[in-house]
Amino acid sequence: MIFACNDLSLVFSNPRTTEALANVSFTVEQNEFVCIVGPSGCGKTTLLRIIAGLLPPSRGEIVFSGNDDCQRPATAMVFQQQGLFPWMTVVDNVAFGLETRGVPKKERTSLAADFLSRVGLGGFLSAFPYELSGGMRQRVAILRAFLTDPHVLLMDEPFGALDAQTRILMQQELLTTWRDNPKTVIYITHDIEEAILLGDRILVMSGRPGTIQADILIDLPRPRTLSFRQHPQFDAIYQQVWQIIESEVREGITR
Ligand SMILES: Nc1ncnc2c1ncn2[C@@H]1O[C@H](COP(=O)(O)OP(=O)(O)O)[C@@H](O)[C@H]1O
Ligand SMILES: [Mg+2]
Repeated sequence: MIFACNDLSLVFSNPRTTEALANVSFTVEQNEFVCIVGPSGCGKTTLLRIIAGLLPPSRGEIVFSGNDDCQRPATAMVFQQQGLFPWMTVVDNVAFGLETRGVPKKERTSLAADFLSRVGLGGFLSAFPYELSGGMRQRVAILRAFLTDPHVLLMDEPFGALDAQTRILMQQELLTTWRDNPKTVIYITHDIEEAILLGDRILVMSGRPGTIQADILIDLPRPRTLSFRQHPQFDAIYQQVWQIIESEVREGITR
């Protein structure tokens, strides 16, 4: 186990009272890829911000067992958008991830350039983020997050703003990066298919207040490519997750 969320609850009161999370408990294993899936507004981002230490829980705690001198896991976050420093070039953005690890300046740039070339961005080293497509920006952001070498990588719908085709490529690339650089990942999505493709496990959330309704092991073989949808277990898992969140999604569109 690398960390455990024990009975986390969070109430916002600014000034309206919103019970965003209630009694959320789960444990995460070292290098596990955990997907959290749930409808919009169920508390996914709130949970991630608590794990990142950006928001104190109203009740409960996070217990970390990754090393002795750290109360909380060191985390790196990848958001849906705007994760890069707009004033830094692509290579400097990635090199920044290495700086936090104390890699000397000279090595940082060449290492960053090396990693960027491996994901096909070798031609964009001195470009600025505004010159890149959304997909390229997310590749840079994900690379940087991996290179900061956090205990836990937190991803909040990182491909949510991308078109469907780009998303497929990015999912494959993320899985390759994760295979080559094993890391504990908490990945948030509202896309059930994406959760099954990526995760070792899916935590299914429902909202008002946000709770974990199911903890499903995804025992499908890797590497998972597009043909994984033909696996007989895929449909079964999809149905299982959909049944949990369907009524809430329906309420959301009819309210
Ligand atoms: N800073 C905040 N202040 C007050 N309410 C908030 C705040 N952030 C989120 N909420 C509320 O908490 C609930 C969960 O939000 P969020 O974690 O963003 O959901 P999700 O990421 O699953 O869409 C929602 O009802 C939202 O309106
Ligand atoms: Mg969110």
